[in-house]
Amino acid sequence: MAKIEDNVTLKNITAHSKEYGFIFPSSEIYDGLSAAYDYGQNGVELKNNIKQFWWKAMVQMNENIVGLDASIFMHPTTWKASGHVDAFNDPMIDNKDSKKRYRADNLIEDYIQKIEGKINKEVTKAAKRFGDSFDEKQFKETNPRVLQNQEKIDRINARLKKCMDESDLGDLKALIEDLGIACPVSGTKNWTDVRQFNLMFSTELGSLAEGANKIYLRPETAQGIFVNYLNVQKSGRMRLPFGIAQIGKAFRNEIIARQFIFRMREFEQMEMQFFVKPGEELDWYEKWKTSRMKWHQALGLGNEKYRFHDHLNLAHYANAACDIEFDFPMGFKELEGVHSRTDFDLKAHEEHSGKKLQFFDPKEEKSYVPYVVETSVGLDRLFLSVLSAAYTEEKLADGSSRTVLKLPPFLAPVKVAVLPLVNKDGLPEKAREILAELQLEFNTQYDPKDAIGRRYRRQDAIGTPFCVTIDNDTLADNTVTIRERDSMEQKRVSVDELVATLREAVSMTKLLKQLV
Ligand code: GAP
Repeated sequence: MAKIEDNVTLKNITAHSKEYGFIFPSSEIYDGLSAAYDYGQNGVELKNNIKQFWWKAMVQMNENIVGLDASIFMHPTTWKASGHVDAFNDPMIDNKDSKKRYRADNLIEDYIQKIEGKINKEVTKAAKRFGDSFDEKQFKETNPRVLQNQEKIDRINARLKKCMDESDLGDLKALIEDLGIACPVSGTKNWTDVRQFNLMFSTELGSLAEGANKIYLRPETAQGIFVNYLNVQKSGRMRLPFGIAQIGKAFRNEIIARQFIFRMREFEQMEMQFFVKPGEELDWYEKWKTSRMKWHQALGLGNEKYRFHDHLNLAHYANAACDIEFDFPMGFKELEGVHSRTDFDLKAHEEHSGKKLQFFDPKEEKSYVPYVVETSVGLDRLFLSVLSAAYTEEKLADGSSRTVLKLPPFLAPVKVAVLPLVNKDGLPEKAREILAELQLEFNTQYDPKDAIGRRYRRQDAIGTPFCVTIDNDTLADNTVTIRERDSMEQKRVSVDELVATLREAVSMTKLLKQLV
């Protein structure tokens, strides 16, 4: 069988997700709500399996990491202390002709990406020309056109960084004008001024009669961990270094929410704050970088699909930061952030709350505010990475084609489908007997309708790794056929061995062992 198309687009993924019950647009009967999505019957299973893989790797396998489930609503001062009230802004700009709104920095980054595209084209051309003797590093350091373009990128990046660091919105607009950036929709350069836009959603707590308070929907789960640092440390008798992990919803009023579930206004994060002794944070940062990359690669989607992007422009509270990027259908983009956040957050909460958030170090015989290394991954982005790597269109030997989700078996929404070859002659009864046993361990589906080939296709489309077919021989010798999704190979096994065979094949433990 051959792959039909290597170029999986976001459109393919979006359409497939809807057709097969993974993701639906939110409140679709009312024409949907921009950048809000609902996970369907298969989506919720896949999402839960991803969460489980993260939770087991983080909490279950690390004796010094514990979990937390903090509330979404928090005291409003939390967000003053964290800096979100004053500085969680994106610069926005409108095109007066198309009336479309953009993030000013994104327009410039897209422009830079185009220049990077030119450099990559030069490299690909040269690689073809020089063959095995091609030295990419040397080529990039010496080719005049590449150097010229790289210099241009560096100049734009430096000016962009200055504008962002100094909140110089006037120069941000001037940069857009100097680069001649036009609106992708209207094609004109008729821009408004750049304005700051706070990304936090706010609402009111309590009725007006009681005197309502403005509160926020949390824009990250991390602050729920910081404000509980002492509760967990004391009640769990935790000693440094230790971590607190949490999975939960976060909300951001993104100016441009786009690219399906890549950038949403309501999304889920899986975050872990690791509290360490000051001075040890950069070692832990390196350890967590390596450990998180290993975790992603253990999913088996292809190591070449991941890369680090070290931040050169650090936020004021960080002394090291990087993204783990994934090769999404729209190119390499941020999947996870690993940040060394110093003692910024705990110190800020100490100042605003007047409570000490410290650790008494028995060896040093003194108290101090721990430093923090954070790992923060978007669950929805992770979902998209898994789905886009798994989505495959194949041409089969008989000329037909199939769409198959080559999901890692332990993540598949349905682990095994039970299919009586015909819906009569005692086969459904035997199939249901087998189903009942399998249901005790696995998420299963029972499908007695249509030709067997069509039933296989339906299971391929949702990524079911195994189909078990019950036929007349099953009644005679208590054996069934197991059909494997990717190879489509079939083998005969005894019903007595079925559970053990499947258990081994869909085991998450195997994957977790790679992380030890
Ligand atoms: N506590 C640190 C923090 O929130 P971040 O880089 O802003 O850092 C962490 O977000 C991760 O959350 C990102 O790497 C991304 O995977 C995910 N994320 C952020 N904004 C998102 C959005 N609007 N939609 C979906 N995922 C998002």
